[in-house]
Amino acid sequence: MTVRRVTKHGERVLKTLCPPVDYEALKPDLPALLKDMWATMASARGVGLAAPQIGLSLRLAVIDVRPEGKSLRLVLINPEIIAREGEQNEEEGCLSVPGIYAPLPRAARVRVRALGEDGAPWELTGEGLLARAFQHEIDHLDGKLFVDRLPFEHKLKVLDAIKDAKPRWS
Ligand code: NI
Repeated sequence: MTVRRVTKHGERVLKTLCPPVDYEALKPDLPALLKDMWATMASARGVGLAAPQIGLSLRLAVIDVRPEGKSLRLVLINPEIIAREGEQNEEEGCLSVPGIYAPLPRAARVRVRALGEDGAPWELTGEGLLARAFQHEIDHLDGKLFVDRLPFEHKLKVLDAIKDAKPRWS
């Protein structure tokens, strides 16, 4: 198990649309890869991590928003949002944009369909933080960061803050 380096804003892999995972082809490497992703997420104190954040262009992400403090580990392979409802507007951040937070409107509830670690399909409706995590991580798989979604003027301010912060990133 290895804590991987987290890729940062500006790196190409974060801007690239990830191709779907061929489950059977990935299966032999999946347990070790997921161990690294969980370890990397925990080490950075994140609630989600997408494969491009460890440099891999794959439609794969992990989420654990710890509802009621208990771990609920979700593995999302080839996830799709199949329904969305309502709106929430909370502060959002990203391990690939460390130290930068901004309020961002998102759907309040989303239903996701994906394959799990065992290759079996699952569906789950998330609300609140889980809904936000679903949207945020699936954005990563589409080559989008939360800062890309900010309204224009707010985005300019955040991009300035990123420019100042970048020299301190590893
Ligand atoms: Ni992120």
